[in-house]
Amino acid sequence: MSSDVSGFDSLMEITKRPPVVFVEGRGSWLIDQQGKRYLDFVQGWAVNCLGHCAPLVVEAISRQAAKLINCSPAFYNEPMIRLAGILARHSGLNRTFFTNSGAEANEGAIKLARKWGQKHRNGAYEIVTLEHSFHGRTLATMSASGKAQWEKLFEPKVPGFPKVPINDLDAIAAAISDRTVGVMLEPIQGESGVFAATDDYLRNLRELTTRKGILLILDEIQTGVGRTGKLFGFEHAGVRPDIMTLGKGLGGGVPLAALVAREEVCCFEHGDQGGTFNGNPLVTAAGCAVVEEVAKPEFLRRVSETGAYLAGRLAALSRKHGCGEVRGRGLLLALELKSDTGAAIVDRARERGVLLNSPRPSSLRFMPALTVSFEEVDHMLAILDELLGQSA
Ligand SMILES: Cc1ncc(COP(=O)(O)O)c(C=O)c1O
Repeated sequence: MSSDVSGFDSLMEITKRPPVVFVEGRGSWLIDQQGKRYLDFVQGWAVNCLGHCAPLVVEAISRQAAKLINCSPAFYNEPMIRLAGILARHSGLNRTFFTNSGAEANEGAIKLARKWGQKHRNGAYEIVTLEHSFHGRTLATMSASGKAQWEKLFEPKVPGFPKVPINDLDAIAAAISDRTVGVMLEPIQGESGVFAATDDYLRNLRELTTRKGILLILDEIQTGVGRTGKLFGFEHAGVRPDIMTLGKGLGGGVPLAALVAREEVCCFEHGDQGGTFNGNPLVTAAGCAVVEEVAKPEFLRRVSETGAYLAGRLAALSRKHGCGEVRGRGLLLALELKSDTGAAIVDRARERGVLLNSPRPSSLRFMPALTVSFEEVDHMLAILDELLGQSA
């Protein structure tokens, strides 16, 4: 490894990183220190929705950086107001609080729901969540998550998150009590391997939560901002949540997330919520550029088309190599493998210049830039075809 990047041992060890240092990115491609090019189907974990260094995002950030970077969240700034308006118009949810990460947005959703429960449901505070869900890495969002490996981690957990299986309405109905203030779930569980809440289940859940007078909270951090072929994942089921969280693609690569809610639910009082960097003009300017682009009908149509093409070609590969199902929607897809070869395929793909992700030992996840071309999809599939052949 070249010595002009030093300090490897100075980084806190939190994950096993491959011996590659990236220095540049353009669209669907990343370049490392040695000048090797990688076709990126990870994109910062479904973050760079317009690809690496998309000109639209670079221009928005550069223009804003020269104008105003941060004036404190205690003041209004222009891009913050503009982006909140754009999100309200498209989602039908009137109010937004911007955050710096998805976990922080979900933490805010939990706080908002608990405050609402205090004011309107006799102090109810429990939020029913799903097994295998992923909501972030703060203590409360880890407690809300249904990740089995986290069960014994960082005890004691934040209480108040009973868990039920996905797509089981009876289980949710049984878990709701006087203590319940809401239900929180991802329209598609991305981190656990791309498992979708069905449209029927979401519709029934909307009806159930309305009937019980509790909140429906959708974590759209991975499914929002065009990832599934609609601007928001909930549009497929034709429902609208009371609270939604966005992140990942929202900033096109810069740290920007959002807690978006129906007016009637917004009960924070001054001092309940805040944060030094929240809604700063630099990142919200990027967010405006991203959402204005992604919300275009022709952009979303193209995501659906590319997603359908990728899903179809993955299904053909699966048949050829005797793999399992292809799951997901739009450009959030997974392929079930024959055995626990996910990590080995990811390593070999990287050596061949393709970046993939294996959320579980027996599956691969595909979350390319929403602008990925058919040729780039073909290129990735050609390498995957070879690797699946070798791993047979
Ligand atoms: C559905 C979902 N919620 C929350 C998060 C946490 O977001 P962040 O890593 O920005 O805190 C993620 C991240 O993968 C996610 O996929």
